[in-house]
Amino acid sequence: MAASDDGPQSLTDKAARAARDTARRAPGIPLDRQLSDEASEASALKVSAAEDEAPTPHVLECDHIVHRYAKPSGGHQLVINDVSICVPTPDFVSVVGPSGCGKSTLLRLVLGSETPWHGSVCADGRTVDHPDRSRGIVFQRYSLFPHLTVLENVIFGLELDGTWLLQRWLTWPWYRRTHQRPYLEMGMEYLNTVGLAEHAGKYPQQLSGGMQQRVAIAQAMIMKPRILLMDEPFGALDPGTREALQLTIVQAYEQHGLCIFFVTHDLEEAIFVGNRLLVLSPFWSEDDGSPGNGAKLVMDVRCPKSATVDRKAAPEFQELLAHVRHQGFDPAQRQRICDFDLSAAP
Ligand SMILES: Nc1ncnc2c1ncn2[C@@H]1O[C@H](COP(=O)(O)OP(=O)(O)OP(=O)(O)O)[C@@H](O)[C@H]1O
Ligand SMILES: [Mg+2]
Repeated sequence: MAASDDGPQSLTDKAARAARDTARRAPGIPLDRQLSDEASEASALKVSAAEDEAPTPHVLECDHIVHRYAKPSGGHQLVINDVSICVPTPDFVSVVGPSGCGKSTLLRLVLGSETPWHGSVCADGRTVDHPDRSRGIVFQRYSLFPHLTVLENVIFGLELDGTWLLQRWLTWPWYRRTHQRPYLEMGMEYLNTVGLAEHAGKYPQQLSGGMQQRVAIAQAMIMKPRILLMDEPFGALDPGTREALQLTIVQAYEQHGLCIFFVTHDLEEAIFVGNRLLVLSPFWSEDDGSPGNGAKLVMDVRCPKSATVDRKAAPEFQELLAHVRHQGFDPAQRQRICDFDLSAAP
């Protein structure tokens, strides 16, 4: 986790936390040596941070977040147990994990529709405590307005943002010339990106599920969010359509330089679309071997990007898939916290 861009005070805190984390995940090295190494690293970072007058905040930083829900029967269910994620610059981050482990919960915390019980989520250096337009979202179920055409659906957010309804109504010719026309042009550009330009005048019910989901992606992208959150966006599609949309979103990422936070329980999909893979798993154990409570991040790795067209068949792709399935999805295989190795985290 890069800390070099933070202020000196938070740097010290981060260094102390980093020292604790290292102590947990490097059991072979004496604790005092790790702490003194961390302390010298921290002072080096402090000097470099002081030299940097205007540090760029990280796109996303989840700092030791813990989240729990009240149970109807009383007490609480711990869902997320001490998860830290740092995304310094825009990246395509896939989050994968077994069903029910807390992926959507994590996504809602990043969106800001829920706030963590403990810890914090920061986007571009600002604490996230409510949703705003800097974080767009695409859900599994298409969220289109049935009475608007495809193009009108895509530009809907821009129109809401631009002017008040009454102002638009009172100044219609002016509004059309100055606002709506550029919006429509921009909408067509985004429809082009998702391959739907020729369907701009249709209504959602005239489109297939996959096409509707493409519209939802264009609708979210046109708002130019800093982070695009996607929760199982292709979960309701057949395998062929799903694969086509996976390619669409990868191309959109490459063209528009978005930061994407992509949640799925489909491991193959996560490795295929993402540049970086986070594995959230409830299958871990305490240092004494007792089963853990809630889900932790058990892996944080770069995804192989092979030059071959059929990347899913590449040996390094298949190796990573088998490794993650073993470490993150197998209830019988519980890593101990002391053995976690996130040291190579991107
Ligand atoms: N609002 C809520 N109130 C109470 N419990 C909740 C709430 N939202 C989620 N949970 C519980 O938290 C746990 C994690 O749910 P979540 O939806 O985040 O899992 P998930 O990993 O997204 O699952 P899936 O892959 O099936 O979508 C589940 O046990 C769920 O029942
Ligand atoms: Mg979910």
